[in-house]
Amino acid sequence: MTLADPTPRTEDRRATARTVLMCRPEFFTVAYRINPWMHPDQPTDTGTALEQWEALYRLYLELGIDVQLVDPIDGLPDMVYAANGGFVLDGIAYGARFQFPERGPEGPAYMDWFAANGFEVRQPVSTNEGEGDFLLVGETIFAGTGFRSDAASHDELRRIYDREVVTLRLVDPAFYHLDTAFAVLDSAGGPASVAYLPKAFDDASRAILEQRFPEAIHVNDADAAVLGLNSFSDGRNVVIASRATDFERQLRERGFVPHGVDLSELLLGGGGVKCCTLELRR
Ligand code: ARG
Repeated sequence: MTLADPTPRTEDRRATARTVLMCRPEFFTVAYRINPWMHPDQPTDTGTALEQWEALYRLYLELGIDVQLVDPIDGLPDMVYAANGGFVLDGIAYGARFQFPERGPEGPAYMDWFAANGFEVRQPVSTNEGEGDFLLVGETIFAGTGFRSDAASHDELRRIYDREVVTLRLVDPAFYHLDTAFAVLDSAGGPASVAYLPKAFDDASRAILEQRFPEAIHVNDADAAVLGLNSFSDGRNVVIASRATDFERQLRERGFVPHGVDLSELLLGGGGVKCCTLELRR
């Protein structure tokens, strides 16, 4: 940090109004294995998932976030991970096209919700898992590939939104969606506006991240391993996994206000705070 660019303090951090979409985990369980976190042979507890999810939902309401809800569907246990339901910007919803057939029906279910709620829906051609892999920083869309979303979906994003799209390649199977390895803390952008796990990216992508975000937070392995980066920020308040204690300290040092939540049950499916949250931008 130079004197001209001091670390922001808490009083400098401003929350901006957010609208998000969530899906109550009424039918949550781990019935199949499509990422290394999932162990279908181990028990899950839908009641615990619901309680933990409700705590996140209530926290968002307390923070003044406008939360919309989509009805969960029996037989789609991963529908709680709303971030994968699409990518929404400028009132246009680019629908998801899931890689694994187990989640396939979620794509149309979310597109129906977008259409019924006044969004212009674009049918996806390429495999893509929505905001799980696409994150907006300033006017640039950072787009993950390597495990789920096909790089061809990044071209679709370019055509639909007429914005710069930067492809980032994920290489660690535990961090299979961009939002498990990269967090947007200040959506206005800037050299310190994100946090990420360097080892989750290939060399070329890491170089891009270093160049674009020279003052980013780098999280440690322990915090990444509880999906600490899978967080949601309104520019001031950052909702994170309560077990990500070093990340919490890093956020405080930079003037953010971290709020810890326990989503341990939903971690059994390989998701955390951000996975349960899809931002809706008109
Ligand atoms: N079980 C889900 C899957 O593997 C978890 C999705 C997590 N979502 C996310 N945005 N990272 O597809």
